[in-house]
Amino acid sequence: MAFRARHLLGIEQLTPLEITTILDLAERYVDLNRRTVKQSDVLAGMTQINLFFENSTRTQSSFELAGKRLGADVMNMSVANSSVKKGETLIDTAMTLNAMHPDLLVVRHQSSGAVNLLAQKVDCAVLNAGDGRHEHPTQALLDALTIRRAKGRLQRLTVAICGDVAHSRVARSNLILLGKMENRLRLVGPPTLMPPGVADLGCEVYGDMAEGLKGADVVMMLRLQKERMDGGFIPSEREYYHRYGLDAEKLAHAKPDAIVMHPGPMNRGVEIDGELADDINRSVIQDQVEMGVAVRMACMDLLARNLRAERGRKLVGTMV
Ligand code: NCD
Repeated sequence: MAFRARHLLGIEQLTPLEITTILDLAERYVDLNRRTVKQSDVLAGMTQINLFFENSTRTQSSFELAGKRLGADVMNMSVANSSVKKGETLIDTAMTLNAMHPDLLVVRHQSSGAVNLLAQKVDCAVLNAGDGRHEHPTQALLDALTIRRAKGRLQRLTVAICGDVAHSRVARSNLILLGKMENRLRLVGPPTLMPPGVADLGCEVYGDMAEGLKGADVVMMLRLQKERMDGGFIPSEREYYHRYGLDAEKLAHAKPDAIVMHPGPMNRGVEIDGELADDINRSVIQDQVEMGVAVRMACMDLLARNLRAERGRKLVGTMV
């Protein structure tokens, strides 16, 4: 099998073949999810814990549904009510959960690198559901599947990633994935919202939407991540919308069949016009949500196969 990893921590560690393997399997789950009976048993008997240190609506519910459709026992760990608030550290929490023998641990944390650290301490497969500004691998994979289905390919596309790139793990994982698949990448936004070292990222950088969107096949908008800002990044939301908010007029600079994406949650009227976001002829935002469940099912299926194989090898090892 082309996918041998123990954990899914980032896109960085994946090869183009592994990415394609995940997307191809996800296609099968798209079909399953459209049936009335959406049940599979590939995770039957397994326990999945969703450990979210940061608020999430769509990612957490998507992982929960994905696990349930694959037959796992799914537990959502609400960190707001947990011992973490009483001062327990990330590692203490991880070790406590580890003692309950989960098979899959889905983790979101506000610090970059926290999920990788946790993965070193536990015996199960860990999936990164977003760590700080670092990576959000399942988001990039669901975006890739959405693009591949809309455009018929995942290569040689001009993709403009627009807005608050500096604070975005979504942008980072997408840049890595789309770069590995040999696309032409552009970052568009005010210089204050570009990450440090942007010149070394290997993409074109634009401060102007009209120029940055010219000839783009894919326009990916990002949420203005106000919770990660400590003031002074933008003059005002009104001004930001005027210059960088995506509306029909700015989109006219992209290719006539360009698709519009947004990972959610959206600030309508700040980074995107509400009507455009709902325009099913241009926006694939709802498809992204649908692909999210399928991609997460594929990732958990592949990790569970590797976990079973690893445990099988260990068992044989103890018998000889
Ligand atoms: C993203 C996230 O949390 O990183 N959202 C998501 O996973 N659907 C993007 C964001 O919060 O803006």
